[in-house]
Amino acid sequence: MNLTTNYLGLQLQHPIMAGASPLSNRLHSIRELAAAGASAIVLASLFEEQIHDEQVDRLKRENRLAELDAPEQFFAGSEPYAFGPDEYLEHIYRAKLAVDIPVIASLNARQPSSWADFARNVQNAGADAIELNLYFLPSDAEVSAAEIEQRMLGIVASVREHSSLPLAVKLSPFFSSLPHFVARLHRTGAQAVVLFNRFYQPDISARFQEVSPHLELSDSSELLLRLRWLALLSGRTPMQLSASGGVHTPEDVLKALLAGADTVQVVSALLRHGPGHLRGLLDGLADYMAERHLRSIDELRGKLNLARAQNPEAYERANYVHSLLFWDR
Ligand SMILES: Cc1cc2nc3c(=O)[nH]c(=O)nc-3n(C[C@H](O)[C@H](O)[C@H](O)COP(=O)(O)O)c2cc1C
Repeated sequence: MNLTTNYLGLQLQHPIMAGASPLSNRLHSIRELAAAGASAIVLASLFEEQIHDEQVDRLKRENRLAELDAPEQFFAGSEPYAFGPDEYLEHIYRAKLAVDIPVIASLNARQPSSWADFARNVQNAGADAIELNLYFLPSDAEVSAAEIEQRMLGIVASVREHSSLPLAVKLSPFFSSLPHFVARLHRTGAQAVVLFNRFYQPDISARFQEVSPHLELSDSSELLLRLRWLALLSGRTPMQLSASGGVHTPEDVLKALLAGADTVQVVSALLRHGPGHLRGLLDGLADYMAERHLRSIDELRGKLNLARAQNPEAYERANYVHSLLFWDR
């Protein structure tokens, strides 16, 4: 049986990857992920703010701060990150030495600026690809959706300009026309999209009348949003598709592949159960394929996408109307 998968020009042993998370901050858990069977590892992100802050520090020391458009620092004096930019590069280098599976660096950004030339350093440090996380929450009523999309494409273009590594873009699900934006990403030089970021939703304490940051691990119900968009995009875009969000069981893996994912990324399940959980996902995939005498992942991938589904309405408005009208039957 052949589970090999091409993703971002990399030949993976199978489609199940470890997504970006603190598990990749330490070499010993990177080794554990690889030993448990991860086909690739996405490192936790380096944030644009970190690169920017370091630039400010350097130019301050050299008395050249005036050269920077935005000389304010985001986290002056505090160090909330696992790695500074130079340490991140060293971590990429060490991770590559520690395991023999692809290591994908993650850059997390919200605007194009001089930080993007860091992509060249990531490439020189030995990363196999870049996952660019465009995490942006629009809150300014003066800024239109078109401007925000243009800004995002500007980020992709500047990373593309500074690195020839294969490039995946991790997106949020909130677009007026996701297929249109994905087509533009492809024209700008990205090879894959990762669907989707989870928005960590602050909660409100009514008792203390305060807002508190909130991060809960996912469960399988979050996969449904991904399945719909995977199915809508699969077979209709030259971009490769990676599912992120709500993959916990072998069945979740299978669903994502059937909807059209090239790869699936797992995080919450690994944080909850440990890296060894990956092995069970992989065994479940292999068992399913053996039971059905499937020889390659290509026989599964995209079988239930919109283009090939026997019931395409299930993904579209017809099913929405039907679901509302007949919810109790
Ligand atoms: C504790 C934690 C840290 C994370 N750190 C990152 C990160 O640095 N960069 C990133 O792109 N995603 C990060 N993520 C998001 C995950 O990569 C993933 O997209 C998300 O958790 C959905 O997948 P899941 O349902 O398997 O958890 C993080 C998630 C968690 C729970």
